Amino acid sequence: MSRRAPTSAPGTRFAEAGRFLDVPVGTANLPVHRASTVLFDTLAQAETAGEAVGRGERHATTYGTAGTPTTMALMDALAEVEGDGHEVRAALMPSGLAAITTVLLAVLEPGDHVLVTDSAYGPTRVFCDGMLARLGVTTSYYDPTVGAGIDALIRPETKLVWLESPGSYTFEVQDVPAICAVARERGVLTMIDNTWASPVFARPFDWGVDVSVLALTKYWSGHSDLLMGAAVAREPLWPRLWSAVRQLGQCVSGDDAWLVLRGLRTAEVRMQRHQENALAVAHWLQRRAEVESVLHPALFSHPQHALWRRDFSGASGLFSFSLEPSMFASDARRRAAIAALCEHRRHFGIGYSWGGFESLIMPARIEQLRSARPWAGGPLVRLHVGLEHPDDLIADLQAGFEAMQHALTG
Ligand SMILES: Cc1ncc(COP(=O)(O)O)c(C=O)c1O
Repeated sequence: MSRRAPTSAPGTRFAEAGRFLDVPVGTANLPVHRASTVLFDTLAQAETAGEAVGRGERHATTYGTAGTPTTMALMDALAEVEGDGHEVRAALMPSGLAAITTVLLAVLEPGDHVLVTDSAYGPTRVFCDGMLARLGVTTSYYDPTVGAGIDALIRPETKLVWLESPGSYTFEVQDVPAICAVARERGVLTMIDNTWASPVFARPFDWGVDVSVLALTKYWSGHSDLLMGAAVAREPLWPRLWSAVRQLGQCVSGDDAWLVLRGLRTAEVRMQRHQENALAVAHWLQRRAEVESVLHPALFSHPQHALWRRDFSGASGLFSFSLEPSMFASDARRRAAIAALCEHRRHFGIGYSWGGFESLIMPARIEQLRSARPWAGGPLVRLHVGLEHPDDLIADLQAGFEAMQHALTG
């Protein structure tokens, strides 16, 4: 873009001053590009760019919704990190849930059937049972531990298998490579929600998935200050995904994309600390009489621990524990006791999210979120273990259990 000649009219000067810097400065980080308008020197350039955007070419843009240098840098980073060694492309969405719904809308058509893991993130189910059903797409839920047995559930009209490993709240680890191998053989697509492990601890494209979805809201941003999602797809699926992104107007701001890029720089170090802290808390919980089981894939006691060891290189800070059901004489006592456990704290926050620097506690109500494999254990409590010192978190939980005992006996 050529520099324009100065003018004395104040309105024009205010509109043009300081927009074109001729000095190249090499900073460690890219600047934030905040943009709706993208400028071209000629009409021909604008037209060529429009055609390239339509084809979904990398780094093509005509407008802020198609991409800015900041969002392009994040798309490149995602493809490189999540799809390491594979031909993939990444699209950005304004939340993790938007990434899930967009990628489903991108490939599904009326009459299609989808197999969704029973352990999927709750709003994924709500979307499948709500909007997808209204559009004539049928969903059935399968036992997350089905493995190669998925074969028997595939119908002639099955278009895709949705996976999430480990699952939300109950943390079943899926045999993703076995499911993907069967699906590929049967001509069925596979998509996974890889938010829990992130590319730091999992390589879903090595397992054979066609699309990986990440809630960047969680560990990639890592600071609980923004919402964003990504769908990373193998090249052949990119045109459909990009077309859905464009039709639905999905896009993110340069500021948020920049913050996610910043989060990425420290993601590996943070995840290692989340893992260490969460394991310290999980081991302590295993020794508590009030705890029926600790649902953490890195514990030997986890039913799919061997699968987790085979496929993952680490565990994040999110896990659940179930409370010994015999402690609760009535529903009212149970509610009061769980409230005492969760509310008697200094460090854990009560909150639905996770993946930030801070620890969170939340009872899980999953009765309505399971159909193929109902939860048969005691009441579940989910923890996100943050970057605080684990001794402080354990002291918090110790005080919570004491408060719970008071509520049970008082
Ligand atoms: C496993 C999983 N996937 C996706 C999401 C959705 O992410 P977002 O909150 O950015 O919509 C969440 C949110 O909690 C989640 O737990």
